[in-house]
Amino acid sequence: MSQHAQPLDVEAIRADFPILQREFDGSRLVYLDNAATTQTPEPVVETIADYYRTTNANVHRGLHQLSQEASVAYEEAHDRVAEFVGASGGREEVVFTKNTTEAVNLVAYAWGLNELGPGDEVVLTEMEHHAALVTWQQIAKRTGADCHYVPITDEGRLDMDAAREMITDDTAMVSAVHVSNTLGTVNPVGELADIAHDHGAYMFVDAAQSVPNRPVDVEQLDADFLAFSGHKMGGPTGIGVLYGKRHLLEGMEPYLYGGDMILKVTFEDATWNELPWKFEAGTPVISQGIALAEACDYLDELGMANVERHEAALAEYAHDRLTSFDDVEVYGPPGDDRGGLVAFNLDGVHAPDLSSILNDSAVAIRAGDHCTQPLHDVLGTAASARASFYVYNTREEVDRLIEAIDDARQLFA
Ligand SMILES: Cc1ncc(COP(=O)(O)O)c(C=O)c1O
Repeated sequence: MSQHAQPLDVEAIRADFPILQREFDGSRLVYLDNAATTQTPEPVVETIADYYRTTNANVHRGLHQLSQEASVAYEEAHDRVAEFVGASGGREEVVFTKNTTEAVNLVAYAWGLNELGPGDEVVLTEMEHHAALVTWQQIAKRTGADCHYVPITDEGRLDMDAAREMITDDTAMVSAVHVSNTLGTVNPVGELADIAHDHGAYMFVDAAQSVPNRPVDVEQLDADFLAFSGHKMGGPTGIGVLYGKRHLLEGMEPYLYGGDMILKVTFEDATWNELPWKFEAGTPVISQGIALAEACDYLDELGMANVERHEAALAEYAHDRLTSFDDVEVYGPPGDDRGGLVAFNLDGVHAPDLSSILNDSAVAIRAGDHCTQPLHDVLGTAASARASFYVYNTREEVDRLIEAIDDARQLFA
């Protein structure tokens, strides 16, 4: 399908997600917790079921037919995912992990533990998810490196003047979230990569909230590493992706040791398998990887530019409606310039309480710190409520959210 923005056929899309027909106490589910985990379309569910019905076997180990078929499907899934994010190196640049978190840890352990030392700096942003923030923070502690955090502006954007000052020749790694899972801010990660490279540093992009929701091309961004999760893009849980430039992955030590990641083993030593298997120790995420490739097909069929436009329109509508109330504080940039999510607080109602009340109307949102505690400290609140959208959400569902917030307002009046 063409990448020219066309409206999504939401009714047809919803038919692919039977879970959306669920009702709680007579109310149809309104699922607005997509930044945490999206629902899974029928073709992906079918792919998983079909794999177990027809092809299930261990990969790379058997010479029998099933194992060979499973191996081919699993290997080709890497190529499909590589194509989805524009990695021209194909499977050798795509490592399947458990999730985004494991992908960050892989780089932090396999690269960071060996390369970082006293005097080195890792530059992050104040809006990092704990997946990147805690990982780099702890690896920095172990290696004697320092972490610095690029501040956000009052509008919730990255302060790029500060970024230009903070990224120096001492910087070894810049790690930034592409789309903030709390603010909805879309960060100029390509520009950050250019600045990092000018100083001889590498660029890690946390794309957990961008690859599922907008066209992302790793080579256009010139990211050295980029990570995302299958369960946020219509794929199954239990699979994430680490993209890495081939020469960097080649130069890195393995992260986990064991079967399948080796070439030759003696009692004294071992050598490593080729990419990406060197980083996929043990029985890998076979059915999940094959299903993730199907999720890529599903999204490409919709057109990622269309997905982006659909979500942006819903986010803008939700933002406009929420900001029209004096008793609602909305976080992040203006409505027409954000990813498909809106975090907010209703005066006098704790976000978790709000979420419970919304749940009574079958409206599912997320409440808490969204794994961005330091960012919430900057925002001056312990928690927020967050509505996040995907390909099957509608304006009517945003209206249901607003009505349910009004119920909460009445209850606490
Ligand atoms: C921006 C961002 N980074 C990383 C993660 C971690 O993803 P996972 O839990 O799949 O590892 C999330 C998940 O919410 C996220 O939103």
